[in-house]
Amino acid sequence: VTIPATIEWRNGAIRLVDQRALPQRLKFRTCRSVDDLCDAITTLTIRGAPALGAAGAYGVAVAAHTMRTKRQVEAAARKIASTRPTAVNLAWGVDLALDAFRRDGAAGALLEADRIATEDVARNQAIGSSGAPLIPEQANVLTHCHSGSLACVGYGTALGVIRAAAEQGRRPHVYVDETRPLLQGARLTMWELEQLDIPATVLPDSASASLMAHGKVDVAIVGADRIAANGDVANKIGTYAVALAAREHGVPFYVAAPTSTIDLDTQTGADIAIEERGATELGPQFEGRAYNPAFDITPARLITAIVTEVGVARPPYRRSLPSHVQRAKEAVTPHS
Ligand code: MRU
Repeated sequence: VTIPATIEWRNGAIRLVDQRALPQRLKFRTCRSVDDLCDAITTLTIRGAPALGAAGAYGVAVAAHTMRTKRQVEAAARKIASTRPTAVNLAWGVDLALDAFRRDGAAGALLEADRIATEDVARNQAIGSSGAPLIPEQANVLTHCHSGSLACVGYGTALGVIRAAAEQGRRPHVYVDETRPLLQGARLTMWELEQLDIPATVLPDSASASLMAHGKVDVAIVGADRIAANGDVANKIGTYAVALAAREHGVPFYVAAPTSTIDLDTQTGADIAIEERGATELGPQFEGRAYNPAFDITPARLITAIVTEVGVARPPYRRSLPSHVQRAKEAVTPHS
């Protein structure tokens, strides 16, 4: 497979795949400072909830290696965490690395970031094995946005489930929403599926409801940026519309995400901050008269199940999600 690691530490700096350049070019960007990393996050050079978790942790490692005082590192950590508000993984990664920095200094922060990055891949493979049985033989699977290897450190979440199903010989075919306005589906999901040799068809977001009405979709599966305690899910704008159409047409609608995306402190989707992005993504002429939210909330009642690295959570989510979080905690080796 020719998909490189999304993010890694190289020669004292962070090396990222530049996700804006794909699919035309596979190129890398090196971030040597906190400001540089914050710019990479806000411009979506690196994006996707689990990838942002690793980026946040490596960002604290860069801060710890380049700044002189503890207060400077703490201020940098706050700055990194505030670059994008919706994906809870960003603050999660920042907090873990900051705790490690407070315990063990710069080396501790880097070790923690490396641990998060390594575990991300293993976690996503576990999500894949939990979720693959939900994908029937030769299924037509609809997905929205991009939840593949490059949205994580490796392997992918919702796309990881499809990938695991393909590895098991189930021969899925994927319908890929192009995902306006930044086209993560058309650019990134289509590119990754091509690398993986999984057949895929791209469609405008507005075509997914009629595709379901024509009986062409067996299951829908997406990733998540934050999952509230009641099972409401924040994900890329347009996800809610997919879930509504899926309900209307009797198509199972699954969400796949690591337990680090579950935020039990957030009670419902109404409490999740939704990032609004600039009008220029729709066209510079719309400055001052554009509505461009990056995410929406899919209510728990439209979600058939939530796949995590410890299994398949079913409704009622207020009961199943805390148990997944607990089981994931027990599965990791505690700090020495
Ligand atoms: O704005 P983005 O591209 O960061 O949004 C990403 C998504 O909405 C993904 O579906 C989500 O992060 C899950 S990625 C495994």
